[in-house]
Amino acid sequence: MNILILGGGGREHALAWAIKQNPKCDRLIVAPGNAGIAQLAEVADIDILSGATVVTFCEENAIDFVVIGPEAPLAAGVADALEAAGILVFGPSAAAARLEASKAFTKEICDACGAPTAAWARFADPTPAKDYIRRMGAPIVVKADGLAAGKGVVVAMTVAEALAAIDDMFGGSLGAAGAEVVIEEFMTGEEASYFVLCDGIDVLPIGTAQDHKRVGEGDIGPNTGGMGAYSPAPVLTEAIAAQALDEIIRPCLAEMARRGTPYRGVIFAGLMIDHGRARLVEYNCRFGDPETQVLMLRLGAQVLDLLLATAEGRLAGAGVNWADDHALTVVMAARGYPGAYAKGSVIRGLDALPQNAREMVFHAGTAARDGAIIANGGRVLNVSARGATLAEAHARAYAMLDAIDWPEGFFRRDIGWRAL
Ligand code: AMP
Ligand code: GLY
Repeated sequence: MNILILGGGGREHALAWAIKQNPKCDRLIVAPGNAGIAQLAEVADIDILSGATVVTFCEENAIDFVVIGPEAPLAAGVADALEAAGILVFGPSAAAARLEASKAFTKEICDACGAPTAAWARFADPTPAKDYIRRMGAPIVVKADGLAAGKGVVVAMTVAEALAAIDDMFGGSLGAAGAEVVIEEFMTGEEASYFVLCDGIDVLPIGTAQDHKRVGEGDIGPNTGGMGAYSPAPVLTEAIAAQALDEIIRPCLAEMARRGTPYRGVIFAGLMIDHGRARLVEYNCRFGDPETQVLMLRLGAQVLDLLLATAEGRLAGAGVNWADDHALTVVMAARGYPGAYAKGSVIRGLDALPQNAREMVFHAGTAARDGAIIANGGRVLNVSARGATLAEAHARAYAMLDAIDWPEGFFRRDIGWRAL
């Protein structure tokens, strides 16, 4: 079959790498892709936020199946446009993707089905929001309701910080995303991510992972899109994963179906684990980045069958073949990230690295220039490895990192510390 993947980050490189290994995949196109993806698939530069453009491209290229990577095309209704055109798609409708696109909506769904999450309130005006913060005290969490590319959450340790966040968000710093805010109870515990496929009715868990959001070693400094990840996440034990599935994920997805907006795709639950129980932090309606890089290394070619079963409503009979293994990925970013950084520096040493089922360098923000790979974004490479133990995966990944010659880049030395 002919397959189109939308997106151009490390997540999409990992998806393309796994899907390409499945014999069902005849032709693979990724839009817009990146320099690493171009080494294994065709790339196409189209406007992936336009449903009409994507549908026309699929018709012209006889595409049988579309996999949507990032949240923006989902929120823009690209899955709806494809479905209306009769093209099989992996990724939820815009209505179902509100589970990521609106924090207040997610909280309403949790309340409607009794899913455990932080206590919350929503505000469309700054004055009552500030009164609420003064009443509740700190620490407290202030969130822009809409999609804000990871910048919409302020975990305020003082009341003054929370009040400043209110001024900031209602002052328009995040545009329309901050027109409404959600204020939440601060939850303590350890975070982990749970990835579950849903075909509208049935669910199938496909793995756990832990991200490292802060830029600095020891989890300090500003938040990023993620500086590294590993899978599985030992903190999400079988018992806690079962509780999260039974008390949070299944009830929320059932509530979505009950409302006439069934969820089809991967639900990525961010969980806070404390005293042996999980509470929901947030949902994402897509695969995580860089969590997908470790999931794909562990799942391999079967991923295409799982995504097809999800899109075709066949999850009831589906299962995952698990190798009892571990994977770890380390993000190499451009110096300055998540602040200002330069593009265009040359990355050397990639050609000499092993690229196989155990060791892969997935590209995020890269481009090709005169036969060289150059940095073209903040997060640039995802150096990833698999092993019988997490320590083995860790050693393999860091050995590869030490062989990459890119003075303008940096990475954290401590990815996996919680589990190691
Ligand atoms: P979100 O975009 O909702 O995942 O928030 C980003 C990060 O903020 C999360 O990964 C948590 O580390 C933190 N966070 C969000 N909500 C809470 C909360 N209610 N309590 C504590 N930390 C939170
Ligand atoms: N790594 C976090 C995310 O994909 O949202």
